[in-house]
Amino acid sequence: MTLRNRVIKAATFEGMSYRGQVTDALIDFHRTVAAGGVAMTTVAYCAVSPAGRGAPNEMVLRPELVPQLRRLVEAVHGEGAAISAQMGHAGPVGNSRVTKSRALAASSGFSPLGTRYHEMSTADIERVIADFGAAAKVLADAGFDAVEIHMGHHYVINSFMSPKFNRRTDDWGGSIENRARFPREIARAVREAVADRVAVIAKFEMLDGVPKGLGLEDSIPMARLLEADGTLDALELTGGGSLANPMFLFRGDVPRKEFAATLPAVLRPAFRLVGKRFMPEYPFEEGYFRDDARKFREALTMPLILLGGINRLDTIDAALDEGFDFVAMGRALLREPDLINRMSSGTVSEGICIHCNKCMPTIYRGTHCVLLDAADRPGVRVAITATGG
Ligand SMILES: Cc1cc2nc3c(=O)[nH]c(=O)nc-3n(C[C@H](O)[C@H](O)[C@H](O)COP(=O)(O)O)c2cc1C
Repeated sequence: MTLRNRVIKAATFEGMSYRGQVTDALIDFHRTVAAGGVAMTTVAYCAVSPAGRGAPNEMVLRPELVPQLRRLVEAVHGEGAAISAQMGHAGPVGNSRVTKSRALAASSGFSPLGTRYHEMSTADIERVIADFGAAAKVLADAGFDAVEIHMGHHYVINSFMSPKFNRRTDDWGGSIENRARFPREIARAVREAVADRVAVIAKFEMLDGVPKGLGLEDSIPMARLLEADGTLDALELTGGGSLANPMFLFRGDVPRKEFAATLPAVLRPAFRLVGKRFMPEYPFEEGYFRDDARKFREALTMPLILLGGINRLDTIDAALDEGFDFVAMGRALLREPDLINRMSSGTVSEGICIHCNKCMPTIYRGTHCVLLDAADRPGVRVAITATGG
């Protein structure tokens, strides 16, 4: 696969797959991002099974969706960009009120907000591996250029990689090799399902930002094993997650009040108690994962995608000079979907996103930058027109 440049739109859950369907809003969102100059846009979190959902209205990748997904693919291709979609199983971050099933993880435990998750049986493990393969086939059949396996953010795959979340004593826990087995088996199942029809990327957890959690000393050898397997085309390097300490992933201002308002009513009292501890602040720094990602660059030869707080053209240039193959950008492109066109034409050399993070709590009602006029919000403006208000 050849991309037209080196910038990928990172997955930012759109909140536009109403009732798990592709909507005109979702198409408008990605068409706008594609028209704005990125090489490839990424459809955010799609679940590989009903039990893998983390929130209501997420798409569950299944063959019936292929015609709808094809419309989305064609809209993005029409703008000259490629399209990828993220496949995940939320695991411990799963919402059992939505899925009507128990949240699953490598080992049992409680989230900081008091929700429970349960150790997976071998049958659970085998089913989830197969679900990833089947989901990837759906995306390949719909004409996607790439699929992205979510191996980060405390979701189920990350729970196996992390010594904090994985306390298993069987072949799926303990040593680095055993904790890498689940992501490797999933990458293998995905590759077998799609062969060379699409590129296979993993959003890969470098460090999970929790005490006694995953660190580079484990994640780099795991990445090396994946590289040796030859199942993946690139790693997009990330860190932190939604289960605990979420600002480690984002940095910048903490939208505590807005975040609390998105929680189910039963969790709000717990959030009021632990909110400050649950969401400590990390100051924003341009390219904040670069130092960790450099260690991956030194250790691996496979293509790598740098992610995290990229806002400026000189950061992109420096990343490419240092041997990263691509960069991925999330918030900067929510703020300015046409930023890459304007950087290419020399009009601007940096974005204007201020990392207020107020986009984050909008994810259940049509994700947008709150500083953009309503009529300029990709996707959201379609919903406004359609509902008349
Ligand atoms: C509103 C919003 C929604 C997000 N949704 C997802 C998601 O569905 N899946 C995912 O892996 N990351 C998600 N992220 C994280 C981004 O992909 C990215 O890792 C993070 O924002 C850091 O990149 P940035 O500094 O360029 O924004 C989301 C981020 C934001 C701001």
